[in-house]
Amino acid sequence: MGEIAERIEQLRLSALDCRGCELCETRTNVVFGEGNPETPLIVIGEGPGQNEDATGRPFVGRAGQLLDQALKENNLSRKHVYIMNVIKCRACITENGRTRNRPPSTAEINACSHWLEKQVAIIQPLVVLCLGAPAANAIIHRDFRMTQERGQFFETKYARHAIAALHPAYILRQDGETYELTRRQLVEDIGAARRKVIEAKKEPNMTLF
Ligand code: URA
Repeated sequence: MGEIAERIEQLRLSALDCRGCELCETRTNVVFGEGNPETPLIVIGEGPGQNEDATGRPFVGRAGQLLDQALKENNLSRKHVYIMNVIKCRACITENGRTRNRPPSTAEINACSHWLEKQVAIIQPLVVLCLGAPAANAIIHRDFRMTQERGQFFETKYARHAIAALHPAYILRQDGETYELTRRQLVEDIGAARRKVIEAKKEPNMTLF
């Protein structure tokens, strides 16, 4: 294992015991992140849902399948990128015996942010791709306006280049032409992130990943 992978693994092992907020009471698994820790491209979602909580792996439900397809349409896979979330444990609410996802609170996001900061500090990506407004709010700037600002690059403290794309779960809730359009936008924004990596490395070839 390389040095970066080893440091990420050490960090993952310490995150598994995290009791930094009350989400530790209801989680099944900490969803730390996975992929290639030597990558120049990190993909960041909001937080684990039911499937991710059950498996301990990010983006493994339907949204994850769409993400995998959109990566594939750009000749990328999970071996090329590192995928993680802003929060590492599922935020959920149980009502009448049914459990559903809820947006994480600001306090939960703040309590978890040191894990993300450490992950990014170890990986040192050239480009961060945020999926959805909550990730863009955490990484790019507060009050991120997805409709106007998706697909644009911003300089951030996490990476020289950060871009936001529509969240695959949002795309899956669209119908017909809107579904096709938003899906295409996701593929395009991943493509833009990929090209930015190549540009940032100043090596205009496709063998970098
Ligand atoms: N949605 C997210 O934001 N992250 C996941 O890991 C799964 C779904």
